[in-house]
Amino acid sequence: MNKILSCLLLLLLLAAATTRADDQKLRNDLEARRARVLAALDKNAVLLLRSRKPAHFSGDIHYEFREDNNLYYLTGLNQQGTYLVMSNHTMGNLGKVMLFTRTGRGKGVISYADRRLTLEEVSARTGIPEKCILGPADLEKFLARALGIKGKGKKISAKRLLYYDRRGAERSGITEIDKAHSLVLRLRHNRAGRRKIKSSRTLIDPLRRIKSPYEIECIRKAIKATEAGLTAAIRQMRPGMFEYEVEAIIEFHYRRLGCEHMAFPSIVGSGPNSCILHYSACRRKLEAGDLVVMDVGGDYRHYAADITRTVPVSGKFTQRQRAMYDLVLKAQIAAIRAVKPGVSFGETDRVARKIIGEGLKNLGLIKSSVHARRYFPHGTSHTLGMDAHDIPAGKLETGMVLTVEPGIYIAEEALGIRIEDDVLVTEKGAEVLSIGVAKRAEEIEALMAER
Ligand code: GLY
Ligand code: MN
Ligand code: MN
Repeated sequence: MNKILSCLLLLLLLAAATTRADDQKLRNDLEARRARVLAALDKNAVLLLRSRKPAHFSGDIHYEFREDNNLYYLTGLNQQGTYLVMSNHTMGNLGKVMLFTRTGRGKGVISYADRRLTLEEVSARTGIPEKCILGPADLEKFLARALGIKGKGKKISAKRLLYYDRRGAERSGITEIDKAHSLVLRLRHNRAGRRKIKSSRTLIDPLRRIKSPYEIECIRKAIKATEAGLTAAIRQMRPGMFEYEVEAIIEFHYRRLGCEHMAFPSIVGSGPNSCILHYSACRRKLEAGDLVVMDVGGDYRHYAADITRTVPVSGKFTQRQRAMYDLVLKAQIAAIRAVKPGVSFGETDRVARKIIGEGLKNLGLIKSSVHARRYFPHGTSHTLGMDAHDIPAGKLETGMVLTVEPGIYIAEEALGIRIEDDVLVTEKGAEVLSIGVAKRAEEIEALMAER
């Protein structure tokens, strides 16, 4: 008994040490990221990043909140009502990096919803000194001073340039009731003012394209959880189950392996639903003979996985399904081989489309391979990172992560197939990160035979 207890204690201590090491890695990254922002920030400019709209609230229940990616990228905080202001000017005895957030009263206090971090905890997590962390009520005045705002009401002008994601804020539901947003809208009221505002995405997005070792570690963890979910789902799948049961098996493993969120709503599409590219209702009963497309991804510390496997509910592909499956797989493998630094982002698509086009022509579905888009109507790759569809790229560079995901969808046969892996661009070419889940048809059938 004592042995078991000491083993458990050791495991707990190890887990705590791992979390502390991860927090330290995040803090190091945060400091490096903020230094890069300051280096890229025009001398006479101010950056304002802000929380998304607070999470949905209904009947006293606070729903889950996930912070805006660019704000998280520079603060590591997931706390509603937070603002970050950065500028190469110091304001009095304050710093170039100023955080505005509500802080909590500490441990040992009964609270209704999640406990707010204390000032010390916010400072420790973000690496921003305590004197540079103020309450949100101080923001408007500070921002007006930092920008050198003159005038009143709608007749205001600014001395400095403001980087702010107005569109993103509005898409997330922020309105002029928010004081900082209202200041931006008033500034936009005349042409001179409008020229003083640039999207903050133009500043931050390029920095997010190349992933640091810590970010790649997070993506790997999201992938591990997703692979575990897919493997379990493939093993347990049988006719008569509902799509949402398969979804639940997959998502159970996200939570179990530390993912706080989903990278996107899980897609589990069987039979005719396998041809709905972003199907997420998951309400149909699986029937013998169906193919099931599972396109899923956990989110670990704000980093996404995005993996697709397509499997036959009965445990064995029909001849027709197998012919299409092998064609998609051939295209996917060739497209992955095309990944290397310096090639254009669309190269994977060109390679996959050519193979699928020729294959469909040989199988008699189309007359010319240029008509492949009818059965392969989406792109082959997108970048992957904090967003499942991350920052667009021109040419591939070492340290980028992208998906490779060709597909064939024949709606009239209720036959949809997509195979998707996550790939890291390395100096030599590519490393497939999602190798921990069955992919070849024989591997899938062998796994399903274990049922
Ligand atoms: N899961 C969405 C996509 O693969 O793009
Ligand atoms: Mn996907
Ligand atoms: Mn994808």
